[in-house]
Amino acid sequence: MESRTVLTGIKPTGAPHVGNYAGMIRPALALVRRHPQDRYLYFIADYHALTVVRSADEFRQLSYEVAAAWLALGLDPQQVILYRQSDLPEVFELNWLLACVTPKGLMNRAHAYKAAVAANVQKGVADEDAGVNMGLFNYPVLMAADILLFRTDVVPVGQDQVQHVEIARDVAGRFNAAFGPVLKLPAHQVKGGVGTVPGLDGRKMSKSHGNVIPLFAPRDELRALIGRIQTDSSPPDAPKDPDASAILTMYAQFADDEQVRAMRERYLAGISWADAKRALFEAMDSFLSGPMATYHDLIAHPEKMDDILADGARRARDLAAPVIENVRRAIGKTH
Ligand code: ADP
Ligand code: TRP
Repeated sequence: MESRTVLTGIKPTGAPHVGNYAGMIRPALALVRRHPQDRYLYFIADYHALTVVRSADEFRQLSYEVAAAWLALGLDPQQVILYRQSDLPEVFELNWLLACVTPKGLMNRAHAYKAAVAANVQKGVADEDAGVNMGLFNYPVLMAADILLFRTDVVPVGQDQVQHVEIARDVAGRFNAAFGPVLKLPAHQVKGGVGTVPGLDGRKMSKSHGNVIPLFAPRDELRALIGRIQTDSSPPDAPKDPDASAILTMYAQFADDEQVRAMRERYLAGISWADAKRALFEAMDSFLSGPMATYHDLIAHPEKMDDILADGARRARDLAAPVIENVRRAIGKTH
């Protein structure tokens, strides 16, 4: 089979959490193992984070946390090009060129913007666009630039990002229609069957909702957070539906197949939520003990990540160069 280009990113707006891991990081790392012949670009969407981040220290620290999480969870920087979006000026050039063929109406329908407007309406704020910056509005165009710059075939993402990948396809088609067939239309890939992992309050687990279980929290904090996961009031010995339990979904990310099978049986037989939570804590604690040590070592020595990220940026720019060159030629830029 021909080798494909696979690309995905995480924006560093908070510590990576169980939802990120289940919905994207784990399936993305599994792809690398399963299809080693493909080309992989996994990156830190740091400029995307600036729609919300307002502190230089936080910007720097959160970017390192995402890089450290990828590496600690098993990303091999020889096999996967790991880089920071902001190290690639080509992304921001393409962002503008794409913005000029993107209808504003398409952005009005993008879910992050729609959610911000809906929240204003619900609060009765007179200006529907209150608190919406152009970065948030333009977010899907920058994401399209991230993807299209490498003639990406496949974008592994969680369910909530599917619309953004579809927008990237749409924008690529519009650019090609205007200037000729220079951009490749990408496809999304949602794997793992986890859907959207709910957070502590039952809404989507998300950094922006403050309801997350961070992957690299200290043990005591991890135990306490798991204790706070909302459950129903069914009695301890009542049978529980394994397919409707967020706790079991999370458990399955960290336990092996045999343990998951056994746990499903315990659910059907009747397990107390306290025991289910204890099992989740133990599975996470044991799975994460190795990655935790690597993570903390990297956070203590960010210079190790600087080298990896600089090398990644060099390799990514080499791949982007012919694509941006074609784009410039297509729009008629003379040299
Ligand atoms: P957040 O919503 O916490 O800011 P991101 O938007 O940075 O997370 O998401 C990074 C990746 O993790 C994306 O591919 C996204 O689809 C996935 N993801 C985030 N939250 C969840 C969740 N609760 N369940 C499943 N996947 C998720
Ligand atoms: N929007 C993605 C998120 O919030 C992050 C992201 C930015 C991304 N650019 C991307 C994901 C390109 C995949 C491909 O999770």
